Amino acid sequence: MEIPLFRAYNLEKKLGTPAKLFYKSEFFSPTGSHKVNTALAQAYYAKKEGFTRLTTETGAGQWGTALSYACALTDLKCTVYWVRAVHDWKHDRRTYMRLYGADVYASPSDKTEAGKVLYEKDNKHPGSLAIAISEGLEDSLGDQKAAYALGSVLNHVLIHQSIIGLETQEQFKKIDMYPDVLISCLGGGSNFGGFTLPFFGDVLTKNKKIQFIAAQSQSAPNLTGEYKYDYADHAELTPQLKMCTLGHQTDFKPIRGDGLRYHGCSPILSLLRNHGLIDTIAYPIDEKYVFDRAMMFMQTEGWIPAPESAYSVACAIDEAEKCKRTGEEKVIAFNVSGHGFLDIYGYNEVLGI
Ligand SMILES: Cc1ncc(COP(=O)(O)O)c(C=O)c1O
Repeated sequence: MEIPLFRAYNLEKKLGTPAKLFYKSEFFSPTGSHKVNTALAQAYYAKKEGFTRLTTETGAGQWGTALSYACALTDLKCTVYWVRAVHDWKHDRRTYMRLYGADVYASPSDKTEAGKVLYEKDNKHPGSLAIAISEGLEDSLGDQKAAYALGSVLNHVLIHQSIIGLETQEQFKKIDMYPDVLISCLGGGSNFGGFTLPFFGDVLTKNKKIQFIAAQSQSAPNLTGEYKYDYADHAELTPQLKMCTLGHQTDFKPIRGDGLRYHGCSPILSLLRNHGLIDTIAYPIDEKYVFDRAMMFMQTEGWIPAPESAYSVACAIDEAEKCKRTGEEKVIAFNVSGHGFLDIYGYNEVLGI
């Protein structure tokens, strides 16, 4: 199924911008986000290799849901360690994963050594993606029939996700246009990478000019971190990756778009950032600015973005407003990586509606 690329005519009109705005709607997938693109591939190969169970981390819960779905379809068991700060407010998403047959634990949990040391000190520990990765990995290492599946960061994940950008390229070809600016939110980098990497090919080999902007949170603006080798997880079970990192054991304040709260950025994107090819903006932790803009998108285009995707929307609106000031008719494409049907409580809390 081809995922649509929409022209945001109503939003353009509302903003009075000469920019042309396009958004890729990754929320069209069965579980409502881009994460299915790699979940299905990883489950398929795990099944083929004879594994019977996949373990994983999840932050926003979208990856956990996508992998639960992929495991159900491939007849694998699925165990999800879910960052507690999110697990505890997204009750419906927890049920959603369980409906697919997954076992879901708040992380840090008392199920693993990596989780237990933190859980026993504080049973309300908010957790982090780095901790949840350690738990999922440790669990899989203790069971020969289990494999660990990661939802972001790694090269194979970005390659699976590149279907987003490949489709977008074809869709622009059909309407004889080409983007000047590509925008997406960035946590570990899977939707940003998937959306932009095919276009980086154009920039690096075909002399095309595109501005790439990653929308992040001031809670964990990992692209502004140091470019060095670091662990992908808290308990240092992973190999070290060369990436922009804020430190694998650093505590970051939980946010509603918590899928963006991760210490490191994918090695491929970190390299591009290190070459000066990716710009970034980090929005305030209270998220009011971002969610206000997501509400404008909702009231003009109709879709409710996931809190993480709201960052992409906010950044696209910022760029469209810049065009209004300069009169530039830029073609701006942004990725809406997931829907927010199950995140309304987060919007409610931030906007006080
Ligand atoms: C809908 C959605 N978008 C974006 C992200 C951020 O992750 P990534 O940078 O890997 O796309 C997440 C992570 O949980 C997510 O659920």
